[in-house]
This record gives sequence, structure tokens and C-alpha cells, in this order.
Amino acid sequence: MSRTLFVTTALPYANGSFHIGHIMEYIQADIWVRSMRMAGHTVHFVGADDAHGAPIMLKAEKEGITPQALVARYAAERPQYLNGFHIRFDHWHSTDSAENVALSHDIYRALKAQGLIETRSIEQFYDPVKGMFLADRYIKGECPKCHAKDQYGDSCEVCGAVYAPTDLINPYSALTGATPVLKSSDHFFFKLSDPRCVEFLQQWTTGSNAAGTKHLQPEMLAKTREWLGADDGEAKLGDWDISRDAPYFGIEIPDAPGKYFYVWLDAPVGYLASLKSYCALKGLDFDALLDPAGSTEQVHFIGKDIVYFHALFWPAMLKFAGRKTPDAVNVHGFITVSGEKMSKSRGTGISPLRYLELGMNAEWMRYYIAAKLNARVEDIDFNPDDFIARVNSDLVGKYVNIASRAASFITKHFDGVLAYAGDTAALAAEYAEQAESIRAAFEAREYNRAIREIMAYADRINQAFDTAQPWVLAKGIATADDEQKARLQDICSRSLAGFKALSVMLAPVLPALAERVALELFGAQAPFTWADASALPQGVAPFKHLMQRVEPQMLDDLFEPPAAPAVVPGGEPLADTISIDDFARVDLRIAQIVNCEHVEGSTKLLRLTLDVGEGRHRNVFSGIKSAYQPEDLIGKLTVMVANLAPRKMKFGVSEGMVLAASHADESVDAGIYVLEPFPGAKPGMRVR
Ligand code: MSP
Ligand code: ZN
Repeated sequence: MSRTLFVTTALPYANGSFHIGHIMEYIQADIWVRSMRMAGHTVHFVGADDAHGAPIMLKAEKEGITPQALVARYAAERPQYLNGFHIRFDHWHSTDSAENVALSHDIYRALKAQGLIETRSIEQFYDPVKGMFLADRYIKGECPKCHAKDQYGDSCEVCGAVYAPTDLINPYSALTGATPVLKSSDHFFFKLSDPRCVEFLQQWTTGSNAAGTKHLQPEMLAKTREWLGADDGEAKLGDWDISRDAPYFGIEIPDAPGKYFYVWLDAPVGYLASLKSYCALKGLDFDALLDPAGSTEQVHFIGKDIVYFHALFWPAMLKFAGRKTPDAVNVHGFITVSGEKMSKSRGTGISPLRYLELGMNAEWMRYYIAAKLNARVEDIDFNPDDFIARVNSDLVGKYVNIASRAASFITKHFDGVLAYAGDTAALAAEYAEQAESIRAAFEAREYNRAIREIMAYADRINQAFDTAQPWVLAKGIATADDEQKARLQDICSRSLAGFKALSVMLAPVLPALAERVALELFGAQAPFTWADASALPQGVAPFKHLMQRVEPQMLDDLFEPPAAPAVVPGGEPLADTISIDDFARVDLRIAQIVNCEHVEGSTKLLRLTLDVGEGRHRNVFSGIKSAYQPEDLIGKLTVMVANLAPRKMKFGVSEGMVLAASHADESVDAGIYVLEPFPGAKPGMRVR
């Protein structure tokens, strides 16, 4: 039976570029969508930018542009990431859109008509200079427990204490430094504590969709039951504050001048807004598609940090607005890079754009991520050595090689014609069964199981090929008898049929490669669907190169900072003029090199251990290996940038940068010269 699916991924905040975590989520969803389409289901797969909220407003203000202009800037760079990684959304929209305003207003009015919106006056910190209420993250002060300075309004990063912003000692606004004052204001609350909501959520969180799949994964069900107090009978769900006071970049609340929806109210509504805008473009009936009594399945892919919003607030909002509720909220864990958590402020991880710019194949990344993902909420790690091994040994070594080995014999000796000896029905049935098992694994989001099984099939195909020793059969084939020819043709045909079946199974993960295999190698008219796995090919075109191996150097380049800028004859033009204040932002310090060593596996770097008079040592990687032996540097003084954001490199975190002189063009062999202060300077002294 053909199903209709409405699939979304979380809407990324529009104040930053995509990072590898976003790309991972989109790859997970894209694989699922492609597999569903290959099974003949209709899928509407949409995304959008999450445009609203205080951080975007403040960032735009800092840059002296409108929030709309800021959002537009990031929106403009989305396609190169999405296309680059073969992530094929049907539509990409924005929460800052007419559709979203209308839908958010509708939903709010419906909730209000249900008696589920309540107005309450609350007291909150207010920045009198900025004229703005302050969210906890914009308030800082001294921790009431350990007295650490400059801690945020909700918790202390030093001792871990959790508190209210009003508990801070000497609070100040992180925006202006002003002392905040307490001020009261009316806020609107969505009454989640209402017995109707609690009852509905008890039921929705434990429910299943039409296909019999649970709305939530077991571990997420356990979490929501905890939040709902379902097991100890104690209602724990608080009402949800859905309004913010002007100034705010968001959607104004109807009949409440100066009040805006909190960004998390209109953000998920953006899923519907994007679908609605898509429907208008395609002539589809949006209301019919999302009829609560209809059969469309609504499936959300999200990360583990935003479950509360999607498993509690969002279903309740939809339910009591009389709309269709989600059929599945699929939660994934986070991707770490070499075991390190990514953090925006530290700017770590690997850049998806740099990955593409280095000419690395997007399908390597899709394959690697698929090989790691399962249906549970587990973090996965991007590990460079593991990446190289999986792509080179498994993907290229096991799968791609089947085609190159078998096709050459068929082209050379049989004019591209395939022929099978014996029972082809059994072979076709075997592929049908294997493909069904893989399809089911994709539907269940057990991608790593799918990849494991696919590679086991590939092993079997390679073993059968090796056992038959076609290279022996091919010797003197011109004068060989028919039986020998038939045996050679059969083993190569079976290998290629196997290769075709594997290509069908890998098509959701490797869409571009599978399409080439279908159209160019096997002369198909259209990309593969699941049914193609069991159709044995009758011919093959001459083999063309299908996929490169990963060069380990590419991973080094991915983790190392971009190379020096373009060549300028005779040197380098002067950078733009800066003010003394600009210069003062760079904190240069005298550092003593207490240790220096080679970095195993790096042709450019030395690892320096530096003393900057802080009572601890810093680890810094420096691209000076070509110019110095470690022992030449130990004990020397130098100058470092001490307030550079730490940077995660392939070999560890670098906590600063040592100053060195060099020619702008690396290829001009003018050398590299580390700076050294005149005698008498001490570690920790500032250079100004
Ligand atoms: N704007 C909200 C979502 C609103 S949905 C109505 C948001 N945006 S986000 O840009 O911070 O995150 C978007 C998605 O990326 C989320 O699903 C989040 O879990 C996911 N990821 C962010 N970092 C991630 C990793 N390191 N790994 C995997 N996914 C991660 O939250
Ligand atoms: Zn503290």
C-alpha cells in the first residue's frame, strides 16, 4: 500500500552556517526519504530557516543590519551545502514568512478558544539602558554558591550550581553592563498543566502511528514519562511561557500590542508553513494533506537537545488547535569529532563547506554516517582513521571493486552480454529477499545494520568470484570450449547482478553513484527503485571509473587551517588599517617553550608546550616543522596570541598561536622564523 509522508528536519537557527551536526541530521532524514520513495511512497520533505528570537535580533543589531538581512545572508548559502551533500528537500522556507504568521495566529487563537491560554504577570530582570527584558543568558554576575565571577543567570560554569538570575550577586546585563532592575510584565502561558493536556500527552507519547511504529523511541518515551510524572502519579508539567516583550524579532501576538510569540512557539509551526508554501507551488491541497482524519504520516527528525519541544509542546499545540498530530518524532544523538563535543564558541569540528571545497566526495560522508547511525539516541563519532578505513576498505575495496573486476571480462570476451547458467529464479528471489531486509532496516532507521548486511553480501560475492578464479578461466579463452566460456560468463554475470543488487540497496545512501550505475552501467531509463534489486541485468556497458579512494592527506587538510592566501609577487599587500582598539583585542604574550616535540603523522606541525605565566601549560600546534628541530626551541622565549579561540585539530586542541615570519607564498622557499623577544622578557608579559 502506498503511503503519503510529510517529513521534516529541525529548522536550523538562521544566525549561523551549517555545521557537521546539521549535515548529519539532514543525511539521516534524506536517506530515509529516498528509501521510502524507492518503495513507491509519496514523500513531501521540507525544511526552513528558524529566523526569529533574541540572538538573531542582537546579532543583526551588532552588524548594523536588519534581522531579515541577516537571515537572508545565511539562507543564501544553504543550497551549496544541501546540494553538495545530495540532500534533496522538496522545499526550503522560513519561519519569518506570511504563511507562518497566519498559521501561528490560527493555532494561538484556537488554543485560546479552548481556554488553554492564560495571562499572568511575572517579574523579570530588565536592562534599563537597552530598554529590554533579559533572558537568563544575557544576565551575568557572581555565583551565589562559589562566588566565581561572570557567571550566567541560570547556572555556574565553575561549580555547576543551578539558580535563578535573581540569586546572582551583583548582577549585570551582558548586553550593556548595566545593573538590571526587576520589572513586571504580562506574559501568556500555554496551560500544559490542564488535565486535558496531561491526559492527551500520556496517550500520545505511548501511541503508535498507522504503520504500527511507536511515536517515540523507547528511551524517549521513558524521558517523557519522567517529565510527565507518569510513573509516580505526580503532575510535573508546568505551564509554558509563550510570549516575549518588545523589542523582539518574531511574530506579534494578535490583540496584544508589544507582545511577541516566543521563538519556540512559531518555530515548529514553520514545518507547516513550509509545507503550505510548497503546496501552493505544486497545486497540492494543504488542508486535505494534513486532515486530522486523513492518512498522511507526519514524521519529524530532530536531535536529542530539543525533545521537550517536539514530544510535549508540539503535539499538544496541534491537538488542541484541532490539527493533525505527529506520527513519529525520530530523535538522533550528536556527532562528535575525534571524540570531542562540538561547540560553536570554540569553532571546532570539521567544516562541511571545507570538506566539499577540498574535493572530498559527499557520498563518502553519507556512507560513513550511515555506517554509524542506528535508531537509538546515541552519539556517533567522526574519526579520521575510521573514516579512511570504512571508505577505502569497505565502500571502494569491497563494493565498487566488484564491478571493475567482473565488467572487464564481460566487455572483453562477451561483448557486454550477460548470461547465467542454472536457476536464475532462485538468484532473483535471493536478491529480492536481501533487498527487502535492507529496505526494512532503512525504514527502522537501523542504517548501521543495513550497511553491515550489505557489506556481508559484498563479501560473499567477492568470495564466489575468487573461488571461481575467472582470471584462470579467461586464460586462452579464445580457444577454450563452450563450457569454459559459459562458466566465465556465468561467474562474471552473477557478480554483476550482485553488484546491481548492492547498488539498489545503497541507493538511498549513495544516490549519485547509484544513479550512474543504473543509467550508465546497466542502461536503465530511471534511477533504481527497490523492485530493481531482483531484476537480473542482461548486459553491461564498458566499466567507467566509479569512485576514488580517500587520500589520507585530505583528512589532514580538513583539520588543518586553510593555507596562506593567494600569491603576491614580491610579498604581500598590507592589510586594511585598524584602530588601536582593534589591535588591543589581540592579546599577545611572552611565552616560554617548555617542551617541543614532533607530531606523529603530521608533515607540517610541531607540538609546543608553552608557559604564559598562568600557572598551567598550554598546548599549541605550529606549522614550523620544516624550519626547526624540537630541541632547538625548548627553553626559548617567543610571542603568542593568547586569546585566540582554542581550535580542535586532528591531533588535539591548539590553545593559541605562536608568531612567526614567512613569505606570503609558501612555495617561495624563504623560510619560517619564530619570533623571539630581547633578553629580559618574562613569560606572561603582554606585548603591546
Ligand atoms: N532552531 C531550533 C530548532 C527548531 S525546530 C522547530 C534548533 N536549531 S539548531 O540549529 O540549533 O539545531 C538544529 C538541529 O541540529 C537540531 O535537531 C539539533 O539537535 C541538531 N544538532 C545540533 N548539533 C548537533 C550535533 N553535534 N550532532 C547532531 N545534531 C546536532 O535547535
Ligand atoms: Zn559557582
